[in-house]
Amino acid sequence: MNSPVDKIKEKISIEDVVSSYIKLERAGANLKARCPFHNEKTPSFFVSPDRGSYYCFGCGASGDIFTFVEEFEGLDFKGALKLLADKAGVQLGVYNKEDQKNKSEKERLYEAMEESTKFFENNLVGNKEVLDYLQFRGLTQKSIEDFRIGFAILDWRKLYDYLKSKNFTDSVIEHAGLTKKPDQEPGKQSKAMYDRFRGRIMFPIADSSGRIIAFSGRIFIDDEKSAKYLNSPETPIFNKSAVLYGLDKAKDSIRKNNFSILVEGQMDLVLSHQAGYRNTIATSGTALSDSTVSKENVVSNLGLVRRLSPNIVLAFDSDKAGFNASNRAGKIALSFGMDVKVTKLPPGIDPADLISKEGPDAWKDAIRDSKHIIEFLLDKVLSDSGSDTRKVGRLIKENILPYVNVLESSIEKMHFIKKISDLSHIPQNALQDDLKKIEQELRYEKKEIAEAEESLTQVHRKDYILRKLLGIILWQKTLKEQSMDVEKISKEIAMILNIAEDQVLGQAKEEKRDLIFEAEVFYGEDTDVKKDAEELLFNLKEEYLKEELGTKMRELNEVEQVKDTIKSKSILKEISEINSKIQEIKYEKEKQKTK
Ligand code: UTP
Ligand code: MN
Repeated sequence: MNSPVDKIKEKISIEDVVSSYIKLERAGANLKARCPFHNEKTPSFFVSPDRGSYYCFGCGASGDIFTFVEEFEGLDFKGALKLLADKAGVQLGVYNKEDQKNKSEKERLYEAMEESTKFFENNLVGNKEVLDYLQFRGLTQKSIEDFRIGFAILDWRKLYDYLKSKNFTDSVIEHAGLTKKPDQEPGKQSKAMYDRFRGRIMFPIADSSGRIIAFSGRIFIDDEKSAKYLNSPETPIFNKSAVLYGLDKAKDSIRKNNFSILVEGQMDLVLSHQAGYRNTIATSGTALSDSTVSKENVVSNLGLVRRLSPNIVLAFDSDKAGFNASNRAGKIALSFGMDVKVTKLPPGIDPADLISKEGPDAWKDAIRDSKHIIEFLLDKVLSDSGSDTRKVGRLIKENILPYVNVLESSIEKMHFIKKISDLSHIPQNALQDDLKKIEQELRYEKKEIAEAEESLTQVHRKDYILRKLLGIILWQKTLKEQSMDVEKISKEIAMILNIAEDQVLGQAKEEKRDLIFEAEVFYGEDTDVKKDAEELLFNLKEEYLKEELGTKMRELNEVEQVKDTIKSKSILKEISEINSKIQEIKYEKEKQKTK
């Protein structure tokens, strides 16, 4: 009964945790809400205070405070553990006392990032030149401290030497993306690693639990050769495209104020927070604007923001690049039902410039005057094309109707068709006709976004269940006395995944040590682990069946369009078989519960 998990659960209830993210309503002994994990209009997400768990009848999401935080915040188990321990005031100290050798690599990477952050912070202390520059940019000492801004001295191995003196190994330092290895010349002695960040102002990037996972370094003295901003490479703890800068500091404020502000750069973000808009997040040159980043990643980025609030204001440089970037993020945000507004900034001025030159009030005005993205684009088209009515018509069709097309609600669609018609004097029915054509042309794009969203939640859930099961197996194997038949569970997993039995443990994406840690901390002496493992197995089976069902439904849709009745009959039969299997599992699960 002494694991940190139990202690945390004693201190904070599922109700506390969930209601700190979304609004819950009473529903008898339970509480309900619109599900944060899928898009829905009527609430099918239930929280049971008695059981300490939640369940969504719409998408099947279920679990306890830990899974909730993991899914909502996009964290791994340790991240959720840290966040909830902080919240509950429970010390995790005991678990950090493992000796260095036994720590997992990830754990060491986090420590290396934290240590580097401290090192860079210290370099800034008393560094008048850099501090003067930051002050000139409008940053206060408090912002510098809050955001833990630091400095990497222009030298080859300052950080490397420091980390070595703190007993970090070459491999950890390199894997953390903090140093680079020079290319090896044949026959020559191997060259030493050197610091990746040199002569740069360092902005640490944190995950949503506040752990430092990467850096973005701004050049201090421009040499005309180096990139203005240099970011950490992908590492085991940093998935470039899945991070928004400042989200750890912004999330509470986004929830409270019920909107977020998306800016582009680090300076924009820090100054916006400083101006009182703590609900600001930044793409920091990564994810949203980069066309090579997959839709799934954009969806997962914005997904968390949407769970916090459906309202978003985009504030990008109004130059062409900024305009395009806001377009992409804006269209995807619109398509999953967010209310998207855009600020109008003077040409060539970004939020940082506006705030530092014209003061916080100018920023406040810009946000207050932000317009719905479709109106914003319409204004632009109308002012760009003057009185050339044919040009107006063409630009509306090319640049605006695609946005109307992705709107979820038909009422909203009508609203904007009317608005466009009023302002452009193009008759509504002509716009409707064009919209119909676009709906046809772009139906794949729309489907792609919807599928990206669906597959993301599904993959996520499947991975989650599998990871838990593998953790249990690996952990049980380390015990003298096992509380269940691990072989049998392995066998069943192999069957569900349709793989050979000896491949089951190889499915683990994380380090085994992490998985064992997770299971051990989670279950401790708890005897319920056997029951849980059985339930997880049922859930895994259910997820796989649901996925199969989804595939079949799509197939059915396709053959129905070409009116292939024979095929559609056989697919229907398969669908009903899958459905009855799912029902069977549901029944079995109920039986387990009442046992
Ligand atoms: P900008 O070039 O607009 O820089 O890039 P900025 O934000 O105005 O820079 P400051 O205010 O002079 O410091 C916008 C954002 O794109 C990313 C950075 O996150 C930057 O803040 N970026 C830019 C990169 O990742 N790499 C680069 O080389 C340049
Ligand atoms: Mn700038």
